[in-house]
Amino acid sequence: MFDSKKIRNDFPVTNLKFPVIGSEKERNLIYMDHGASTHAPLPVIEKYQKFLNGYYANVHRGHHHLSIVSTELFDHVSEIILDFIKGDPAENCIMYTQNTTMALDMAGHMVEQLSGITLTTLMEHHSNDLPHRARGKVVHVDVLDEDGTLDYADLERKLKQYHVKLVAVTGCSNVTGYFPDIHKIARMAHEYGAYILVDAAQLLAHASIDVKPNDHPEHIDFLAAAGHKAYAPMGSGFLFGPRKLFDAAPPYMPGGGTVKYVTADDVFFDKSPDRHQGGTPNIAGAIAVGAAINYLSDIGMDNVREHERELTDFTIQKLLKIPGLTLYGPKSADKKSGVLTFTIDGVYHELAATILNYEYAIATRNGCFCAHPLLHRLLNVSPEESAILRDKLVKGENAAIPGAIRATIGLYNTKEEIEILIEALSVIAAKKWKGNYEEKHDADLCRTSYYEFKI
Ligand SMILES: Cc1ncc(COP(=O)(O)O)c(C=O)c1O
Repeated sequence: MFDSKKIRNDFPVTNLKFPVIGSEKERNLIYMDHGASTHAPLPVIEKYQKFLNGYYANVHRGHHHLSIVSTELFDHVSEIILDFIKGDPAENCIMYTQNTTMALDMAGHMVEQLSGITLTTLMEHHSNDLPHRARGKVVHVDVLDEDGTLDYADLERKLKQYHVKLVAVTGCSNVTGYFPDIHKIARMAHEYGAYILVDAAQLLAHASIDVKPNDHPEHIDFLAAAGHKAYAPMGSGFLFGPRKLFDAAPPYMPGGGTVKYVTADDVFFDKSPDRHQGGTPNIAGAIAVGAAINYLSDIGMDNVREHERELTDFTIQKLLKIPGLTLYGPKSADKKSGVLTFTIDGVYHELAATILNYEYAIATRNGCFCAHPLLHRLLNVSPEESAILRDKLVKGENAAIPGAIRATIGLYNTKEEIEILIEALSVIAAKKWKGNYEEKHDADLCRTSYYEFKI
């Protein structure tokens, strides 16, 4: 059962207040930037602090009390993760990383030696595109014009046309919230002899994941995610994948901890996961990831999903009624997470996000969300406009970067908070905000910002 009051009380961030323009009273922070990073609830913070206070020591090779406890706690995290995503520990393992980007990069490394191209999609975050481009030929599967969802016919066509080794696809778009059918894609990829890599950055904390047994046609071969988007602190992510491929690949980061034996002119590398993880891992971070996953498991991922689905549906219905606001992606909460991306006619995205912050204490994100190809497509940026923009940016000139505003729903958001968001967006759409915002251009950062100095 989803006890929203208890869950809200678990998050210290829900107590924060900020001064706002036009009011003597501070406003409660309404945090709707969960797509970027989520805050940790008390049980996770406590576990993290307990480790720092009581057990802090390096893992694996120490034979003193602290190292023994640290090792036990650290090694147990893999079991927690595997259990959560239903991965078979006999055939797979968990590799720890700093973030999702490093996990996606590591997956690219694991298939680098294989022949074939990587198929990714036009809706990916740059982190599930650029690491593959850095390693060889990448072809992009198209998205549909109407809502930026995946064009499965194009996927099929490209699987037929190319010798594909890896299909790298997001489990949930960080722009539209759309959930592609990762099991259908896995089946299609496997039929053509390719592996599938799922970017689960926006999925891990929002819907249940079942990677299925390794011999299942819909098995997910690789899955990448990070704690900072799943209610754990920043700095710890992971890659799930098959031991067979991990052991066949050259060490990702050779160094201390990756070997069984070294002489001056010979190295005998260990098996995975140690084989790839040179140096001291983020032990405290991994333990916090384990605690966050336990926190989510205790609530129940079906309950989490249902709560977010209901709030998303509520928000979509309200957003669609605001004159001049355009919502991107699917309009049905059944097909998407609580990632809500929109533009407001005649109001630059940066200004809208600034007003939401300074006048309502609502935290959103704006810009292109590290997904330029998808944003340009959704916003109808023509190739000519794109070329002009590119030229300006390369020359370091001022440019109004096309973009949108994104509000993302998390575990503890409420209908009351959504009502305030809607009220704020209605005021902005009607151009009736209170502050006087000064536009600032920073050519070095290629950024236009808005400031209101009255607070
Ligand atoms: C879909 C998606 N993939 C990858 C990333 C990169 O994640 P990280 O910051 O953990 O490297 C993000 C971050 O926003 C994301 O939303």
